[in-house]
Amino acid sequence: MKFDTKLMKKLVSIYGPSGNESIIREYIEKEIKDYVDEIKIDNLGNLIARKKGSGKRIMIAAHMDQIGFMITDIDDNGFLRFTNIGGTSPFVTLSQQVVFENGVVGVIFSEPMEDISKLKLSNMFIDIGARNKEEAEKFVNIGDICVYKTEYQENDNVVFTKCLDDRVGCYIAIETIKQIENQKNDLYFVFTVQEEMGLRGAKTSAYGINPEIGIALDVTGSGDTPKAKTFAVGLDKGAAIKVKDNSILTHPELRQFMIDIAEENDIPYQMEVLEFGGTDSGSIHLTKEGVPSGVISIPTRYVHSTIEMASKNDIINSIRLLIKLLNRDIIL
Ligand code: CO
Ligand code: ZN
Repeated sequence: MKFDTKLMKKLVSIYGPSGNESIIREYIEKEIKDYVDEIKIDNLGNLIARKKGSGKRIMIAAHMDQIGFMITDIDDNGFLRFTNIGGTSPFVTLSQQVVFENGVVGVIFSEPMEDISKLKLSNMFIDIGARNKEEAEKFVNIGDICVYKTEYQENDNVVFTKCLDDRVGCYIAIETIKQIENQKNDLYFVFTVQEEMGLRGAKTSAYGINPEIGIALDVTGSGDTPKAKTFAVGLDKGAAIKVKDNSILTHPELRQFMIDIAEENDIPYQMEVLEFGGTDSGSIHLTKEGVPSGVISIPTRYVHSTIEMASKNDIINSIRLLIKLLNRDIIL
């Protein structure tokens, strides 16, 4: 399986912070519409694409939204104060470039700090180069959201870019939609909204679909950088099969099923126990009377920064695992 650089680069470059997913949704819709039987957008903006089958109703979720910064105030000199949309560290944010939907670019900096370790987003501001409040207001309004502006990079091993969370999940879903053939199961691929705000899009879309099985595709962290916190996940060691995060304990039989399929097909995999964070499966598994759910995670360094890094092999192996899984009779 070849890595589709063009598709990945495009996915991470399109603006789409939580609640503002329409441009990325349009792009994904165009990309998949010839490969699915039905396609619709629900009331919250989730894109739901079905590949019909007579077997189990399976929901596969990847979130379209990305983290960003929302403008809360504009001062007399034209500097913007902001709050976070999704989790961000002030240290990762300092001196980074950001871009608004209308293309306006700014840089994030901080007030002079005596003790930089006390840095908080509330000490920081965005400078768009405006001369005063009036001029700034021509370009930016309260409530507008900007996102990180960095260039996509890759080499033979890895991609490094903003927004892998979770456009890499979208990439895996899109590739699976394109590659899977004559599967028996009834597949609902959902490109969800507002995951970063608390798994919101997955909640309503799962209610509407009422799946028998749920699978989320999302990034996880890695424990393979110098002096990293103990965490048995690393880049290029395979697709990560989630056991736990703060939103879910994955269904044990579904998890075992994923392991069995990886073993049978010689697909490299690793087990993931994440001590923080959540994914769309956290919402899906609590739908109605409960939905057995699991997660295929993509090991990623520097999550929620401007330069998230993942292995091309892990991404390809995640697609292989998902396709094999969706092709099988799943009996739990
Ligand atoms: Co995230
Ligand atoms: Zn995510």
